[in-house]
Amino acid sequence: MHMNNDPNRQGRYRIEGADSICSPALVVFRELVEHNLDTMLRVAGSADRLRPHCKTTKMAAVAKMLLSKGVSRHKCATFAEAEMLAGAGARDIFLGYNVVGPNIERAAAFLRQFPDVSFAVTADDERSIGHLGEVIASDKQSIGVLLDIDPGRERTGVRVGQRARELYALIDRTPGLRAEGLHLYDGHQRQKDLSERRLAVDAEWRKVAAFRDELLESGHPVPRIVCGGTPTFPVYAEIDDPAIELSPGTCVFHDAGYGEAFPDLEIFTPAAVILTRVVSRPTANRVTFDVGTKAVASDPPMGERVVLPEIPDAVQVVHNEEHLVVETADAARWKPGDLTVVIPRHVCPTVAHYDEAVVIERGTIVDHWPITARGRRITV
Ligand SMILES: Cc1ncc(COP(=O)(O)O)c(C=O)c1O
Repeated sequence: MHMNNDPNRQGRYRIEGADSICSPALVVFRELVEHNLDTMLRVAGSADRLRPHCKTTKMAAVAKMLLSKGVSRHKCATFAEAEMLAGAGARDIFLGYNVVGPNIERAAAFLRQFPDVSFAVTADDERSIGHLGEVIASDKQSIGVLLDIDPGRERTGVRVGQRARELYALIDRTPGLRAEGLHLYDGHQRQKDLSERRLAVDAEWRKVAAFRDELLESGHPVPRIVCGGTPTFPVYAEIDDPAIELSPGTCVFHDAGYGEAFPDLEIFTPAAVILTRVVSRPTANRVTFDVGTKAVASDPPMGERVVLPEIPDAVQVVHNEEHLVVETADAARWKPGDLTVVIPRHVCPTVAHYDEAVVIERGTIVDHWPITARGRRITV
């Protein structure tokens, strides 16, 4: 079988023994993850400025790598991720998501199951704050609550101002809750140019910092402000404020989408790719791979879901559940069974499609890492 696994063509994504891997497969290059983590630490300046989001990797193996590098604060979006982090040894976990409905009881159950974990969530609504306080206090426990601030994204949170002030005071006086600061996620700041991104972030940051100062003057504790994702991470990292905790997630694996959108993020390298095989050559110019929408994130627009480093002229013309059809002038080079790797444009939902990642080190298969928090529930 012809296999396009020539080291000169595959470069950094060379895999010895790729023939044995069932496709489609999520393949993680350990050295590249290590590189991204070290870059993250360098940009942050020190491990204790970081609170990385685990939503991209969802893996205990990566959480343990972070812990071994001295990163003790962690962020997540789901209870499965929180439980994965706790199981990996994290003792300071912030679930950056508003807990409502049965998740309020789950927060109490999480605290019972992990009594030595400092656990916090976000809130932005009076009734939810009241309900959370009742459940947690009646369980004789306490939970950290960060007020979710809307920095103009208009997804969740409240703008700084009177209502935010009242909500923070409510959190601070509600039994069972500990006012632990502010949460500021600004995924809408997508200026390609770093200096433009910096200007936009600074303008919002100044309002939030002034609001924090007011809260402190009113006697409320504001120990932390958890800020940003990957694109704004280098900007917040430059701000000298001891309350800032930096919460990038994607850059741990990185992807083609961020790589293209933000040239300054070239300091990170895509570390998770998909190994895929040709399953058919239906026409003279078409090659069909087994990397369908159930194997790679399909939230980027049709035609842009993956980058195919070995087929630079590939036009992605059909993307079904188990098939990706590309058109290329080079189609004759490809035969059913041939392998290649593709780089996802959006790695986070891609990872969530897989039960495990094949781990490569020095070009060979060294391990398989379970995507521990892939599902919605582990036990809590
Ligand atoms: C609340 C929150 N924090 C942090 C992040 C991490 O951002 P990024 O994926 O840009 O690293 C996200 C991403 O969606 C998020 O929703």
